[in-house]
Amino acid sequence: MRIGVLGATGPAGSALASRFASVGVEVVVGSRSRERAEEAVEGLRRRWPTRTLPLAPGTNEAAAGCDVVVVATPWEGALPTVRALAPTLAGKIVVSMVNVMTRLGERFVPLLPPTGSMAVALAGALPESRVAGAFHHLPAGPLGDLERDLAADVMVFSDDRAATAEVIALIARVPGLRGVDVGGLGSGLAVEALTAALVEVNRRYKTHASIKVTGID
Ligand SMILES: NC(=O)c1ccc[n+]([C@@H]2O[C@H](COP(=O)([O-])OP(=O)(O)OC[C@H]3O[C@@H](n4cnc5c(N)ncnc54)[C@H](OP(=O)(O)O)[C@@H]3O)[C@@H](O)[C@H]2O)c1
Repeated sequence: MRIGVLGATGPAGSALASRFASVGVEVVVGSRSRERAEEAVEGLRRRWPTRTLPLAPGTNEAAAGCDVVVVATPWEGALPTVRALAPTLAGKIVVSMVNVMTRLGERFVPLLPPTGSMAVALAGALPESRVAGAFHHLPAGPLGDLERDLAADVMVFSDDRAATAEVIALIARVPGLRGVDVGGLGSGLAVEALTAALVEVNRRYKTHASIKVTGID
C-alpha cells in the first residue's frame, strides 16, 4: 500500500505524509515541481532525524500512480490538478481533504461550490476513480508533529462504500485517529463547510481543535 499526496509541499499534505510515514506507510510526496518535493522531503528528514520515514519525493504525476491518492492542494487548484492526472487516477481511491473557504476580514467562512462540495466536483472530473473525502478537520500543526499524540475522528465519505472501508482501515494505522463513515459524497457539503467553523474555534480559543463523534462503539 503506497499513498501519493498531490500538493504535499504544503502544511497539510506534508503533515499527512509524515504522519503516515511514521507508522511505516510508504508515501510519495507530490508537487508540481520535483525540486520542491525533494526540498519538502529533506525538510521532513531534517525535522525528524532519528526516525525512519519511508517518504519519496516525486511529481504529482508520480504521486498519482500510488494505490491511494490524497488531494492536498488549495481548492482553486484541485480541479485542474486532478483533470490533468485523470488517466493515471483511473481505478484509484482519490481522497479529497480540500476545504473551500475564504477570509472575510479576520474571519474564515465556507464557500459553497456549485456542486455542493469539492469532493463532488472532483468525482465529476474523475468518473473512473473511486472518490472519497477525509482529513478535512485535522489541523496540520498537530498532525505533522510526530511527537504529539493525536485524539481525533476523521469523517470519511464516499459513494463507494468499499473505498470508505479502505480509507477507514488506512486511518486506523495511525494511533489516535479513528475513521468514521459519515455517508456518501453528499455529506461533503457539511463536512467541508464545518472546517471554517473549526478554524474559528481555533482562532477564538487559540488552539488546534479537531472532531470527536460520540455514541459509536
Ligand atoms: N492546513 C491545514 O491545517 C489543513 C487541514 C485540513 C485540510 N486542509 C486542506 O488541505 C489543502 C492543502 O492545505 P495547505 O494549507 O497545505 O495548502 P497550501 O500550502 O496553500 O497548498 C499546498 C500545496 O499545493 C500546491 N499548490 C498551490 N497552489 C496550487 C494550484 N493552483 N494548483 C495546484 N497545486 C497548487 C503547492 O505545492 P507545489 O507548488 O509544490 O505543487 C502547495 O505547496 C487545502 O485544500 C486545505 O483546505 C488544510
